[in-house]
Amino acid sequence: MANTILVGAQWGDEGKGKIIDFLTEHADIVVRSQGGNNAGHTVILGTKKYVLHLIPSGILRPEKVCVIGNGVVIDPVSLVGEIEKLKSQGVRVRKEQFLISDGAHLVFPYHRLLDEQRELGKKRNKIGTTKRGIGPAYGDKAARTGLRMCDLMEPEIFTDKLRAKIKENNAVLKALGAETVSFKEVNDAYLGAAEKLRPFVTNTVVYLHEALKAGRDILFEGAQGTFLDIDHGTYPYVTSSNTTAGGACTGTGVPPHRMDRVMGVMKAYTTRVGEGPFPTEDAVIGNMLHGMGREFGATTGRARRCGWFDAVATRYAAMISGIDDLAVTNVDGLDTLETIKVCTHYKAGRKRLEVPPTDSRLLADCEPVYAEFEGWMRPTTEAKKWNDLPGKARDYLKTIAELTGARLAIASVGPGRDQTIVL
Ligand code: IMP
Ligand code: MG
Repeated sequence: MANTILVGAQWGDEGKGKIIDFLTEHADIVVRSQGGNNAGHTVILGTKKYVLHLIPSGILRPEKVCVIGNGVVIDPVSLVGEIEKLKSQGVRVRKEQFLISDGAHLVFPYHRLLDEQRELGKKRNKIGTTKRGIGPAYGDKAARTGLRMCDLMEPEIFTDKLRAKIKENNAVLKALGAETVSFKEVNDAYLGAAEKLRPFVTNTVVYLHEALKAGRDILFEGAQGTFLDIDHGTYPYVTSSNTTAGGACTGTGVPPHRMDRVMGVMKAYTTRVGEGPFPTEDAVIGNMLHGMGREFGATTGRARRCGWFDAVATRYAAMISGIDDLAVTNVDGLDTLETIKVCTHYKAGRKRLEVPPTDSRLLADCEPVYAEFEGWMRPTTEAKKWNDLPGKARDYLKTIAELTGARLAIASVGPGRDQTIVL
């Protein structure tokens, strides 16, 4: 299948976990390139449900290699917890199967506390983060004051650096009136986690280049989605990494010309968690989906905000990441609707907009202009082939792919591996 970058074309939670799991069958290696344990990928296999935060979903297939690239931020204690949780579910994480970049930055408890404090301080303008410390950790990385996996592998160096970082951050936390962190507790917990992670830590750039030379196929697993991208998203209501296709290169050390294909994953409607503009947000579809028990977050359990499909957004996403193929998920979420709306463009005053404005405040004022579709009003969850889908569902899917400007490659009608229609 060659080297594929998989990105979310909306605000995250597009169902990437399931599509990655599906595509992994044809890949040799699955790599995460950005984000941290703010991500939550849910994979359902038979009757078992696995929720992954840092470890690529490829881990569920024992013959595949999973890599956490240099662009990811890692909370080592939480990563050890994730490995242990998998073990308790019968999935062993073996040394030959799992590699962690020695260049990946670390997330510390003071990052989480600062994340929380910044959100409290902002009140009405809060971002609605996952409170995993992601922003402050990437902040340290950009400020060149972060600690990396390679530091953690050198206990003496790590302890010295950590002592200084905790002193500095405790002063800030104290000034904010927040709780502080204990150097000893953090040091002990992190050095404990370090020994459990040591077998996996290596220069993953070299590993990936050797794999490329050997002709192995790599799948780059994106986390979050296009409009949470630090550069291209609805800033400041974004996450702190590059969630678009370019992030797969910088976050792994694999050069652009080695990438063969970009697949974009999008829901047949739109959701977003956290604050920030969302032009097609709509209570009708939100109440319907929540009533079905759908659209609650994998990481925080928060009810996701819901809205109609926004082709202005997905078209822009396809442009930024160079999306070739589309996977449309949650088609079955629309099964009971009589009328389905699709946003084709925005109106801003008297102006017609084909792309979202850069300024979040202007985006918040955009009025979505909709085309209406008749719903198919029957279950799609049993469909195995394209022609099993109701004609109206096929028309709908063809239209949203056309509006997005990419080829429809996969339609997903439920969480199961066998609920995946390949075109
Ligand atoms: P942070 O990444 O925790 O700093 O959160 C920043 C924004 O990104 C918030 O709106 C979060 O809800 C959102 N976000 C972060 N990770 C995910 C994800 O995996 N899925 C969906 N939204 C996310
Ligand atoms: Mg998620």
